[in-house]
Amino acid sequence: MTPKTFKIKSFGCQMNVYDGERMGELLGAKGMTVAAEGEDADLVILNTCHIREKAAEKAYSDVGRLKREDGSKPLIALAGCVAQAEGAEAKRRSPLIDIVVGPQAYHRLPEMVEAAVLGGRPVDTDMPAISKFEAFPPRRRANPSAFLTVQEGCDKFCTYCVVPYTRGAEISRPWGDIVVEAQALVGAGAREIVLLGQNVNAWRDDPRGLADLIRTLAMIDGLERIRYTTSHPADMSDALIAAHGEIDKLMPYLHLPVQSGSDRILKAMNRSHSTATYLATIAKMRAARTDIALSGDFIVGFPGETEADFQATLQIVDEVRYASAYSFKYSARPGTPAALMEDQIPRDVMEDRLRRLQERITANSTAFNQSKVGSDTQILIERTGRRHGQMIGKSPWLQSVHVETAAAIGDLLDVTLVAALPNSMTGAIRAKAAA
Ligand code: 5AD
Ligand code: SF4
Repeated sequence: MTPKTFKIKSFGCQMNVYDGERMGELLGAKGMTVAAEGEDADLVILNTCHIREKAAEKAYSDVGRLKREDGSKPLIALAGCVAQAEGAEAKRRSPLIDIVVGPQAYHRLPEMVEAAVLGGRPVDTDMPAISKFEAFPPRRRANPSAFLTVQEGCDKFCTYCVVPYTRGAEISRPWGDIVVEAQALVGAGAREIVLLGQNVNAWRDDPRGLADLIRTLAMIDGLERIRYTTSHPADMSDALIAAHGEIDKLMPYLHLPVQSGSDRILKAMNRSHSTATYLATIAKMRAARTDIALSGDFIVGFPGETEADFQATLQIVDEVRYASAYSFKYSARPGTPAALMEDQIPRDVMEDRLRRLQERITANSTAFNQSKVGSDTQILIERTGRRHGQMIGKSPWLQSVHVETAAAIGDLLDVTLVAALPNSMTGAIRAKAAA
């Protein structure tokens, strides 16, 4: 029987969240609805992430848990990057899986569901030249802060990373399509748009680059804020840096992963930037936009990383004074060059380095948050808080700000930031900002 209800569980990055939304819209266009909270869905989609540790094992155990007590099960689709990496192998490893669909093929999901209903077990991990985006229905619903994928894939081949294999080569969506989608999102209630891409700052639609795209989107009435993530240091153009000083709607926040503070390790990672070029980019960015909040990603325990290399990483954290940062233990990914490198680092060493790095990051993010206490700013209300009457919004610097207010989700509020914690701020209301 054709499924009537579905549930999508997205893991990993923001692009998976975006893909999950689009899969939902495709199924919605076929008349299916999201299963109510607590209700068994007829179709469950696990939209998986393959970036670190035991991703495949976790996905298979999640699949196993979908079997119900009475022995029945929903239709099960394995989607996302684990599906891409496993392909048809997924059906052999788990007889419960009905559909295997990769991140570049999910526009075919409705047909695959039909085939599965008829007893087939379709697998599609193609990376077609025709973009999946063309198959999507127009956007009708949007969060106040909405994701919009503009670029996918990666040609950088960092030696630790699976993304070039699971998401394929770098492609940019056409300028016109993005503008149309952005207008639809704003029409559906978005006040902020977050442009997404594995290498978002490599976006191009000749002769336009990301700075030109942002400049165009900034002209959309009702769109108040623009962000983009994730950027690669080597693609950080002068035009994009300058845009931060020129476009008010472009928020003062940049996620620019460095991964390590050691040039020797950056070389082994094939990062195509050095600490010097990275710091020069940061300096230019700070000159263009003095209040920019910087964020980054770090990997500790890359093969061959010595204590001295790790000390250099601690040093760059202090040098950049990150407002926030994500840090990970290196995880050997099958099929990547680093997985075959000698001198893999023992787990206890990685854990110790991760702990020390996180301490340093927390000290910096606390200092950043404290530096904002007393500032008058605007927040975009995104969700309700835990306490009655409390709402949570985002500052321009992407801090979560807790505030007592009767305002609604989607409102922009004038607040004063009155207190700082390592991961959030408390705000006090001033007046409602003019929309
Ligand atoms: N091991 C640990 N962390 C990784 N990342 C990517 N691949 C790996 C890996 N094999 C991290 C990088 C990247 C972030 C999205 O995930 O820091 O920027
Ligand atoms: Fe992975 Fe490097 Fe590409 Fe980022 S730039 S997606 S870390 S290969």
